Amino acid sequence: MSSAEIRKDTFEALLEEHTKLRGLLRGLEQALAERSRSRSELAAQFRELGELIDSHFHTEEASDCFPDLVSHAPRVSERVDIMLAEHGELRAAIHLLVEDAARSAGTPEDWDRLAAGFQAFAAKLLEHERSENELVQEVFTDDIGSKD
Ligand SMILES: [Fe+2]
Ligand SMILES: [Fe+2]
Repeated sequence: MSSAEIRKDTFEALLEEHTKLRGLLRGLEQALAERSRSRSELAAQFRELGELIDSHFHTEEASDCFPDLVSHAPRVSERVDIMLAEHGELRAAIHLLVEDAARSAGTPEDWDRLAAGFQAFAAKLLEHERSENELVQEVFTDDIGSKD
């Protein structure tokens, strides 16, 4: 089997989405640090992040990326299961934050709570995406690159 059969462009699209997600996270982090946005702008930023995460997770779950990784490297099967299971937790967490931001009255306590919730969520999401990147790179390097 050649590396052409494992659709490299699909993986590149996935890694590109990870980069876009990191950009949105940085934007929100900055907005929360500066506290310069209106309540509705902040709520909209949270909503945008929630929507991107939903569609990103859906794409990953529906695509052949992870099944392809497992078929090339069965040893990563358990790690793929963990990755997909994490989607449920992360979805629930971002939806709580989106709702919290939508309800926020813009008090200092609201900003503090949203910033703390966001920090905890962003750390988990970044760790999740980092693990996926590593998984893709590892399988490409060890199991596919060596067969070229
Ligand atoms: Fe994921
Ligand atoms: Fe991802």
